Amino acid sequence: MKTIKVAPSILSADFASLLEDVQRMEKAGADWLHVDVMDGHFVPNITLGPLIVEALHPHTGLFLDVHLMIERPERFIPAFSRAGADLLCVHAEACVHLNRVIQMIRDAGCQTGVALNPATPPGVLDYTLESLDLVLVMSVNPGFAGQNFISSTLAKIEKLAGMREERNLDFLIQVDGGINEQTAASVIQAGADVLVAGSALFGNDQPARVMQAFREMARHEKNV
Ligand code: DX5
Ligand code: ZN
Repeated sequence: MKTIKVAPSILSADFASLLEDVQRMEKAGADWLHVDVMDGHFVPNITLGPLIVEALHPHTGLFLDVHLMIERPERFIPAFSRAGADLLCVHAEACVHLNRVIQMIRDAGCQTGVALNPATPPGVLDYTLESLDLVLVMSVNPGFAGQNFISSTLAKIEKLAGMREERNLDFLIQVDGGINEQTAASVIQAGADVLVAGSALFGNDQPARVMQAFREMARHEKNV
């Protein structure tokens, strides 16, 4: 039996009542809170920074999973760590010295994650996987919530799951973008452990039911 973690993405929250919305997800049974940080350079949108993480941190027990869609993310590792982030995930495409950045995250006391855009092959992590707690497979082009799932990313999830098994590693595979009750089963079947969902959870008045549906899909997954 396979178990998955569910990580609502606050990009789809109502920012005028952010804490209330976060607590709604916590009550509904979320495992993690996925925080989408965008700088208007790496992606064509701007969202939030360490101040918001710092403000939410004392009011939620959720694991704070911070997805940095920013250029030169190393500049902000100490600030997000101080703000209470549990995991910092940087984009491979945004780091010239990826190995050094991962080491910086680890030294700052956070778990380490690397995200791959839909067009980035998993092989870029060939010499890095050993030092990662999580690999994030982007299943939409990062920047916005509510986009359609890109199905070619399923093969990438499978490939990463295979690499993990071959090398006897234990990093989590997270999938982000276009995850809903229609797409979640194939992602879980491909090998995902952490499902990020924005619009499918915040945009639903029964998020607990949707989370439950995701978990049921994992429970019925026989190949893992
Ligand atoms: C996209 C973000 C995602 C986004 C997912 O750039 O990284 O976390 O919020 O939103 P949905 O689930 O609506 O595709
Ligand atoms: Zn994200």
